[in-house]
Amino acid sequence: MPEFPSILTEIAGINIAELANRHGTPLFVYDAAMIRRRIADLKEFDAIRYAQKALSNLAILDLCRREGVLVDAVSAGEIRRALTAGYSPHGNPPPIVYTADIFDREALELVVERGIHVNCGSPDMIEQLGEHAAGRDITLRINPGFGHGHSQKTNTGGEQSKHGIWHAELDDCLQQVDRLGLSVSGLHMHIGSGTDLEHLAQVCGALEAAALHVGRSITSISAGGGLPTPYRATDQPVDLGAYYRLWDATRQKLQMEFGHPVRLEIEPGRYLSAECGYLISEIRAIKRMGNNTFYLVDAGFNNLARPILYGAYHPMSIVPADGAKQRPLMDVVVGGPLCESGDIFTQTEGGFVCTRSLPQAKIGELLVIECAGAYGFVMGSNYNSKPLAAELLIDGGEAMVVRERQTFDDIIRGEVIPRTHV
Ligand code: LLP
Repeated sequence: MPEFPSILTEIAGINIAELANRHGTPLFVYDAAMIRRRIADLKEFDAIRYAQKALSNLAILDLCRREGVLVDAVSAGEIRRALTAGYSPHGNPPPIVYTADIFDREALELVVERGIHVNCGSPDMIEQLGEHAAGRDITLRINPGFGHGHSQKTNTGGEQSKHGIWHAELDDCLQQVDRLGLSVSGLHMHIGSGTDLEHLAQVCGALEAAALHVGRSITSISAGGGLPTPYRATDQPVDLGAYYRLWDATRQKLQMEFGHPVRLEIEPGRYLSAECGYLISEIRAIKRMGNNTFYLVDAGFNNLARPILYGAYHPMSIVPADGAKQRPLMDVVVGGPLCESGDIFTQTEGGFVCTRSLPQAKIGELLVIECAGAYGFVMGSNYNSKPLAAELLIDGGEAMVVRERQTFDDIIRGEVIPRTHV
């Protein structure tokens, strides 16, 4: 913890100003030790399957693989990332699982060709896989009819959600599975992202009922992801022990019923990768608009879209260039460089601009947006022709570039001016 609120000088023992000098801004920095700590928190589960959509840099996947963490993939691109990071296509438990609600043509071809395990989120996926790969074991992602997330946009259960197989259609799907010569080896439920233990706990009962319905072919159950992570100083860490005990009890009941072991998986994205990540930006303008003071930095929603999408709160700090240990605080609005009014890091859901109490700062000083590892870089874009930021991983006291900043040539690669006007 910093000595004074919102002053930060180091990440994992490395001087932030030196990193920014050497690598430029905006810059994502990840602390490997934090990811390892979060992995260790979940070690009671039989398998941790990282939802790489949260942060899929190859170096992060490699770290997870070395720590014995399995991986989830939601696209052909994510399957290829997992393979490139050294995951093998099959094994028991399957190192890579493709979880989605559709197959695009590329994904279907890849899972069939490479023998990747599929967690089907729609009857059409079962049909399409059955046509090309009869004889396979599949798992089913069930929508239990309820869901919850930190925002309505991250709620993945209930009638308003496109995710999973509707619970009442399970029977039809089992018949379909039989007809196609497939078999169901496991069930999975993920009701939303950034939810709370109260809602997550309700999933155990729903999953148990569905598993009893499927019967003895079940050898694995997945609790999905959704574990919350503390973004605000007042957010309480989740009671993982209690959460594990709930799921373990469900698993034990199923084991008793089936007379064989049932593997218990968890599928976190945010929990493993949010807290490790810092987005370093430079303050380039400070201006007043009536009563509001704006710090305008060189990172925008092209780098971190969570505030504009969900009104998400991220902790922020200033890196004083003069090494000051404390500065007077002032209420400021923090915005980015993009030509769009919504490019504001301090906003609540619905786009209402709010202020943050931050140390007074000058042009050229750095502003760090924290807890930015999950759904940060991966949701970045080239809006306003801004390059995707560079990414660094700090491990063992060393900061390594794990993705170079895009160049202008990278941005326009593939674009063509038609020669029709010669
Ligand atoms: N499993 C499935 C099937 C999922 O759909 C997701 C997230 C996860 C696991 C991981 O959830 P987590 O443990 O990270 O909560 N962009 C949003 C989050 C979208 C989550 C999508 N699915 C955000 O920035 O909050």
